[in-house]
Amino acid sequence: MAERLPITYHKETCYDIVFTQSFETLWEELAVLGCENRRLCIVTDSRVNELYGEEVLHILTGKCCKAVKYVFPNGEEHKTLDTVKEIYKYLIAEGFDRKDMLLALGGGVVGDTTGYAAATYLRGIDYIQIPTTLLAQADSSIGGKTGVDFDGYKNMVGAFKMPRLVYMNLSVLHTLEDRQYFSGFAEVMKNGLIKDAMFYEWLIEKMYEICERDLDVLQEMLHRSCTVKKLVVEKDPTEQGERALLNFGHTIGHAIEKAKGFTLYHGECVALGCVAAAYISWKREMLTMEEYYEIRDMFVPFYLPISVDEINPSEILRLTKSDKKMEAGKIKFVLLNKIGKAVIDTTVTDEEILAAINEIHFSDEDAHA
Ligand code: GLY
Repeated sequence: MAERLPITYHKETCYDIVFTQSFETLWEELAVLGCENRRLCIVTDSRVNELYGEEVLHILTGKCCKAVKYVFPNGEEHKTLDTVKEIYKYLIAEGFDRKDMLLALGGGVVGDTTGYAAATYLRGIDYIQIPTTLLAQADSSIGGKTGVDFDGYKNMVGAFKMPRLVYMNLSVLHTLEDRQYFSGFAEVMKNGLIKDAMFYEWLIEKMYEICERDLDVLQEMLHRSCTVKKLVVEKDPTEQGERALLNFGHTIGHAIEKAKGFTLYHGECVALGCVAAAYISWKREMLTMEEYYEIRDMFVPFYLPISVDEINPSEILRLTKSDKKMEAGKIKFVLLNKIGKAVIDTTVTDEEILAAINEIHFSDEDAHA
């Protein structure tokens, strides 16, 4: 049974998230957006295209003015302005004008890049998100952040541009490789930790079904996880304040991701960052020791790391300061007051950050102890 979750700004519904288990109702949803009279361009990458590109193109063909597909190579290294430029060229060649629409079919790279092309082509055209990874379903497809990497910096160039619809076919999660699936799960766990203790407990209770990718459990999980994100982005769509709570685990996480040359997945680094931030919260007596160890250990059954080897703690500290989530020279750190209640704190010291990095650093000494 499909479910929907409206995202509302200024008391008006801006777009719906649809949770379903196939592509069967995709055209119905597009028809509501007046797509019969529009040109539609699916933008996807080479991997997702092989799996779902033709199926989605077939759904559109013959129902709208024109349905076309633009495919770019899979991989974070293609989340660039060059890819955006190629999308513009393709849209111009296919005669796309301001009333036409893009469909981002893929994971975070496809969603962010397509969203940015939509935000800027002809000063902005509509787009929808059809996220196909757990990371994109739980996080990046919601809330209108679009953008590309630039000059070695992640998401350095971008815009806020709300999609017209987020269509989640949860059955696509069955084709995701394990490591990518569990990496996406870190963002789900994070959403429970920052805002919803009951959801966090539910995730632990449903551990078996989540690992088995039971579709009904995944539907409930994403509905609840996206409800947390909805509450945050509705209040603060452009990250003037509270939206930064979604960055729990990301300050140290991003630094590790960069130091490791992006060989660890984003969600794996987020899990490490969550453990480090929970450690600081414990040391400040915001969490109990039991809570800290529970948070840490509960990543393990979901195949997420809680320690990392071969890092240089002072390099990680330095990299936390080059994170763009700084304000007036201060790191906006996210800590936990308790499970289900995160707070933004700008007073975390270098010593506290170093101690947290050492806590998650698995060194040779540990191995020989
Ligand atoms: N990924 C965090 C946010 O959407 O704000």
